[in-house]
Amino acid sequence: AGEKGTVSERSFVMIKPDGVSRQLVGKIVSRFEERGYKLVAIKSLTPSPALAKEHYIDLASRPFYGGLVKYITSGTPVVAMVWEGKDIIRQGRRIVGATNPLESDPGSVRGQYAVSVGRNLIHASDSFESATKEIDLWFSEAELSSYEPTAWGWVM
Ligand code: TYD
Repeated sequence: AGEKGTVSERSFVMIKPDGVSRQLVGKIVSRFEERGYKLVAIKSLTPSPALAKEHYIDLASRPFYGGLVKYITSGTPVVAMVWEGKDIIRQGRRIVGATNPLESDPGSVRGQYAVSVGRNLIHASDSFESATKEIDLWFSEAELSSYEPTAWGWVM
């Protein structure tokens, strides 16, 4: 993909139940907005076990998989989002921070708010392939908006 492809890149970002219960939704959304990213879709829901299992299917053999699925589906909702803009997949990972909060940059969401890997507040797609799969898994085409923000914050 050339520069245009990168500009319209999309990532799936999810505030996990701990982020919702800790009332960090607004602060987390603000980080993406203030960076200049465009909110394409957002919804709050308690995922079904089938959805949570499929989302984390690559981790199915890991010892924490069962607990992870149980947590994501516990009944406290998640906030599922699609963000769009230049380099959003890699930038989203930087905004989120490293998986293990001991290694998260202190300026990242996890680095500022999380101390446990099992309660690390937020998910962001880690590759173009994951983003494509996850957006399709969590959202229907009709839920994805198309509009022009008044100020992009970055140069086309
Ligand atoms: P992973 O996809 O490796 O990390 P990331 O969320 O940064 O993409 O793991 C998914 C989630 O699984 C992670 O956010 C928290 C949970 N997890 C654990 O509970 N224990 C672990 O040892 C790991 C690696 C992940």
